[in-house]
Amino acid sequence: MKLGVCYYPEHWSEKHWETDAKEMHEAGIDIVRIAEFAWAKMEKEEGIYTWDWLDRSVETLATAGHQILLCTPTAAPPAWLISAHPDILPVDEKGRRRRFGSRRHYCPNNKTYHEHSKRITKAMAERYGNHPAVIGWQIDNEFGCYFARCYCESCTSEFQNWLQKKYTSLDELNERWGTIFWSQTYNDWGQIEPYNLTVAEPNPSHVLDYYRFASDSWVAYQQIQIDALRANIPKKQFITHNVIADLNTIDYHDLSRNLDFISWDSYPTGYAEMGSQNLYAPDEESFAYAHDLGDPLITGFFHTLIRGLKQAPFWIMEHQTGAINWSENNTGVRPGALRLWTWQAAATGAEAVVYFRWKASRFGLEQHHDGLRHHHGGANNGYNDLLTLKTERQALEDFIAHPLDTPVGILLDYSTLWALEMQPHRKDFAYLKHLFVFYRACKMLGIEPDIISPQADLNRYKVLLAPNTFLADEVLAQNLDNFAAQGGSLMLGVRSGFKDTNNVVTEEPLPGLFRELVGAKVAQWHSLPPKIAYSLQSEIPVFYPEATFWAEALKPDTGTKSLATYTAFPFENSSAITEKKHGDGKVLYCGVYPDAKQAKALMRFLLVAENIPILDIPDGLTVISRGKKLFALNLTESPIVLVRKSNPYRIPARNFKLIEG
Ligand code: GAL
Ligand code: ZN
Repeated sequence: MKLGVCYYPEHWSEKHWETDAKEMHEAGIDIVRIAEFAWAKMEKEEGIYTWDWLDRSVETLATAGHQILLCTPTAAPPAWLISAHPDILPVDEKGRRRRFGSRRHYCPNNKTYHEHSKRITKAMAERYGNHPAVIGWQIDNEFGCYFARCYCESCTSEFQNWLQKKYTSLDELNERWGTIFWSQTYNDWGQIEPYNLTVAEPNPSHVLDYYRFASDSWVAYQQIQIDALRANIPKKQFITHNVIADLNTIDYHDLSRNLDFISWDSYPTGYAEMGSQNLYAPDEESFAYAHDLGDPLITGFFHTLIRGLKQAPFWIMEHQTGAINWSENNTGVRPGALRLWTWQAAATGAEAVVYFRWKASRFGLEQHHDGLRHHHGGANNGYNDLLTLKTERQALEDFIAHPLDTPVGILLDYSTLWALEMQPHRKDFAYLKHLFVFYRACKMLGIEPDIISPQADLNRYKVLLAPNTFLADEVLAQNLDNFAAQGGSLMLGVRSGFKDTNNVVTEEPLPGLFRELVGAKVAQWHSLPPKIAYSLQSEIPVFYPEATFWAEALKPDTGTKSLATYTAFPFENSSAITEKKHGDGKVLYCGVYPDAKQAKALMRFLLVAENIPILDIPDGLTVISRGKKLFALNLTESPIVLVRKSNPYRIPARNFKLIEG
């Protein structure tokens, strides 16, 4: 486990640098991340490099014993570059060209910007790549933050190229997009523009491809920098990028593929405040949590999602240390927070935690954002927490040396997320909310699931949840078939198989390509408004017998079992949940959108059948087991008792306990 800090030496007079480096060291920090956003200071005019300050900063840090992580500065193109090439600036969905004066003001498809990005990256790599203290590189900063989809002239023509490559012929594109609807047939590639600014809502197939194209644009832009770095740095130096976990506009499976590992920026109080609307059901109270520590289920969900991107350990490239400046209340953070957050991150699979930031900034947008040290340089709560953490480092290392056991996989597919986002059909039907219900159900039973791409290695899991496979293709259908045939327990959720990957509805009875695999037909589906429920009876223990939000009437084939049946009009006698034996395994279809308690009952049913040990986790507690040890985290205001193997364990308020054996 490594600890680091984000440092902006250019924000402070050089007379502080040595003390900063020393104080970092005293708090157990050994990695310092620098040079992010410092383009204007590294190259004051085109081709006039000014490395002297960075040379001195690198030396000061290295002399104090730190390892250095360098960032390419491309999230902040300098004014001289923008004024020479204003077409680098992105164009937003409303067709407005955005201005210089903040950050992330560039289009990822601008060829001039590609050249300058390559040039500055190469120059940095040549200058610092062989420095013994440099351990790795972060490319840019948070691709897609503020906007991920640009609609400029470069993007328009690149989109046309992207489409030509994908479809080869216009006939094919017209056919696959269903352009026959509203006379949208194209007879020249040049006629196809970005979907924004249409009079009525555009064709969902067109939009989905634009979303994919926009995502691919970041992946390709990142690759330009990966290549420039790889050609100029030693093999042992890593390359990563720091993502915003809940952004959802870039396919993070694609983005992480060519990186050595993926990193994310974790701000627990901000995510709890803003993220709860995106993850909990609208009428639901969020999990019991402390306002100044965040919601461990939300923080944990994103750790898990990021770990799943490469099915591997990850880094926290920025971790909150105190108050932030971009949520609604920006709550103050009490002593102890950083210690608890760091433990949770490590327990969930983070290999390193890099804190944001060293000292609070006196200027720019982030004047109200805390750092480990105050504006005046004195220690803030986060710094003191690190001193406590120092005394626990060995215990932490011992705990994370045990393997992280994840018997359950939950599928995440970005194209499907986008398709549902543009046509939710029912208010609040959101892909990640649906996923989160099942994630929570696992956590309520003491299980840490993996959240993974459909292309991931599925054989690692005994139970595979596909809460929403709205878009389906033969490959996915075959993968899921194999998983169950080889002995796995697979569960598909509502709206599965509704469309093909072009966002066009299937010609087959639902669930389309999964029809045989599921062994049941979706005869009807109803979106249910608030307060409307269809009653059910179910043989699944403690499954609350009502369908709300979204209900599907299933007709099982002979040989397929009904685990829940509707008892009243309009779906009377139809199944709501089915189970079919398939090869050595089985396939369930859950035709209702479960609430958290129903999902828990369903998960318990699945896990018990697989002999996977479960626990009843009391509200407010979140646990992660590694090997035979358990990390139990209580971020609420009161102690919580966890009963395990008939022994009660008291987890103090705002604290954690390691439980043995
Ligand atoms: C992140 C960003 C940092 C800083 C931080 C403030 O999203 O990468 O540069 O702005 O937020 O919380
Ligand atoms: Zn553009």
